[in-house]
Amino acid sequence: MLKAEKRRVLRILKDGIANGTTHFADGIIRSPVDDFTSEELLRQEQQVFFKDTPLFVGLSSDLPKNGNYKVETINDTSVLFVRDPNGQFRAFANVCRHRGAQVVPDGKGRAERFSCPFHAWTYNTEGRLIAVNRESSFGSICKEEFPLVELPAAEKYGMLWCKPSPGGTVDVDDCLGGLGEEMEAWGLDKMSHSSDQEIDAEANWKLVIDTFGENYHFDVLHRNSLAPSIKGNLQTHDIYGMNYRMVFAYQNWERIVAEIPNEEDWPFFSLTLTVYFIYPNAILLVDYAGCDVLRMHPVDNSTSKSNTYHSWYLSPNFVEAHEEHGVKVNHEEKFNGFNAIIRREDYLVAESTQRSANSGAISHVLFGRNEPALHHYHNAHRRGLNRPELEPVAAV
Ligand code: FES
Ligand SMILES: [Fe+2]
Repeated sequence: MLKAEKRRVLRILKDGIANGTTHFADGIIRSPVDDFTSEELLRQEQQVFFKDTPLFVGLSSDLPKNGNYKVETINDTSVLFVRDPNGQFRAFANVCRHRGAQVVPDGKGRAERFSCPFHAWTYNTEGRLIAVNRESSFGSICKEEFPLVELPAAEKYGMLWCKPSPGGTVDVDDCLGGLGEEMEAWGLDKMSHSSDQEIDAEANWKLVIDTFGENYHFDVLHRNSLAPSIKGNLQTHDIYGMNYRMVFAYQNWERIVAEIPNEEDWPFFSLTLTVYFIYPNAILLVDYAGCDVLRMHPVDNSTSKSNTYHSWYLSPNFVEAHEEHGVKVNHEEKFNGFNAIIRREDYLVAESTQRSANSGAISHVLFGRNEPALHHYHNAHRRGLNRPELEPVAAV
């Protein structure tokens, strides 16, 4: 984030703490629970969001060296991400051109070539078919005509992007809707990969994103986990095209600012946690340690199942920064602790919401004035599908 914007954000939070207010949406809106249960809607979402739309798929340090690769399933497509011998980030449908088997197993590693487990057709890290096993028996083919199918991919500001279907290009600045400079200023390109975790949930992919959409719940659901360190019901609210940013304040705000009379000197990272929604399916959290990237997808063609790829990255200043404040952090413990909160608190509630939606007990859920990010997430998804925006609930 740029310096002037940090100052603006800190002023908003300062006023919010002083007045006991947060950034409010215009009113209350309601969302039909059918949005979490409709198979027809899921089919549209799968096509538009998980085939036709470029997705934020990680940071550059997922693939630090040439030959590094990772394989992920995005909705129903196995995708091979690789850094080729020229250092270029590329993406391929991980589908063998012989009989369509998945070429590279799920996971990550480093390789010079990929050999299909079915009949050992072999591809290089540029996707070229370089060997057909027992070609004299199989028959002769022009290998140039059967590379792995390449998917549009781009790398900018330390972010990796990919459109999970062939054709077209990815314009990262266009996807970021004005957040480019801000992403560059975070130094995501200098962050190092630390940890990965995949989280399954029996809940619609949008419901799990929603758990990252407000901090109204912190004092209740997270009263013993996050609430002791982050203030609940207090956030900033900014929209960047289809994306969204909110900033939360830490509980130690008053203690820190009391010691620093000049607001210009207030330390942004000691006071705040920044949360982005990167359309259509990612959450990016930026704090003093680095950042977390969480990407949610539907799985098994089910309205009620999702997975989340969660990766944690460390800022080069991390050790220095937390030593300065006397905080000792065990990396794995911090990552696993955060995942435990997501699983045992947020996603447990999302799963109960899914069961309620499936039961038909209620027709709508409500998004309050103090949950403005949820207004944006749901309406952005609706705009993406050319659906009408959510209806307001009459004020009393
Ligand atoms: S399907 Fe890959 S080698 Fe046969
Ligand atoms: Fe939460």
